Amino acid sequence: MDLDPTQRASQEQFARQSQHYGKGHILQKVEDVAAVLPELSLPHHATVLDVATGGGHTGMFFARLGHQVTLSDLTPQMLENAARGAAEEGLKVETRLHPAESMPYADGTFDLVTCRIAPHHFTSPIDFVRETARVLKPGGRFLLIDGTVEDGQPEAEAWAHQVEKLRDPSHHRLLSPNTWRDFCVHAGLTVELSKVTSFLQPDLEWYFEVAATPDYNRRQVRELVQTAPESARQLFQISTEGGKITWWWQRLTLIAHKPRHFFGS
Ligand SMILES: C[S@@+](CC[C@H](N)C(=O)[O-])C[C@H]1O[C@@H](n2cnc3c(N)ncnc32)[C@H](O)[C@@H]1O
Repeated sequence: MDLDPTQRASQEQFARQSQHYGKGHILQKVEDVAAVLPELSLPHHATVLDVATGGGHTGMFFARLGHQVTLSDLTPQMLENAARGAAEEGLKVETRLHPAESMPYADGTFDLVTCRIAPHHFTSPIDFVRETARVLKPGGRFLLIDGTVEDGQPEAEAWAHQVEKLRDPSHHRLLSPNTWRDFCVHAGLTVELSKVTSFLQPDLEWYFEVAATPDYNRRQVRELVQTAPESARQLFQISTEGGKITWWWQRLTLIAHKPRHFFGS
């Protein structure tokens, strides 16, 4: 598999940290996915592709509902763990190793493509959306859930970018809702829902542990938290609770569909 330097950095980072993303990780809670299930209008036994599946939590949610699920990721260790987690639950899933930006499937294969809390690692989110549009069946849906910073907040976005890059070098960029919308429109998809909600970063020290952040970078992040600009303080509600540094990230949920008469790019 040919990988560019950003993809390689992600693969190395997640290979090292793969044991943290299974049972017990906060991503195991899939209420955010369950909340939009009615809006996906899935057929019975839908074909579902979960891109950058990590611990497999999103894909397994759909497998439990009886859908035919493919879990994909570019890190072999993550895929192995996800497959093991699915087998332990008696769920049948397929696994495929590939980057999000280049998918080994025929045009029009899936009723649903999902991608949750991962595109901020991707080298080329626009290529990922273009590939998603290609592999969706006409009428199929794309569900994207990822960290974001709302439009019109350049200072807070720059702060969040510095923090995330120091915490986890495989981080690439948090994209705003309008940027994702533009990518979808460009790829020929129709956006049906674009909603920003907040979720708690419960403890900075735990957040460092999941990414194995080096001590020097941890010090820099703590400094950034102390000196955060007012815009970031307000937007992310940075605070100290019971000795823990917490804040609220913004999370985008976007649903788009592929029109029956598709004119993709
Ligand atoms: C935080 S985990 C994903 C969480 C998961 N989607 C969930 O809902 O629990 C991020 C995953 O993205 C994968 N990843 C990062 N960059 C990628 C890329 N360019 N293509 C495919 N997978 C990628 C990593 O290997 C890792 O498994």
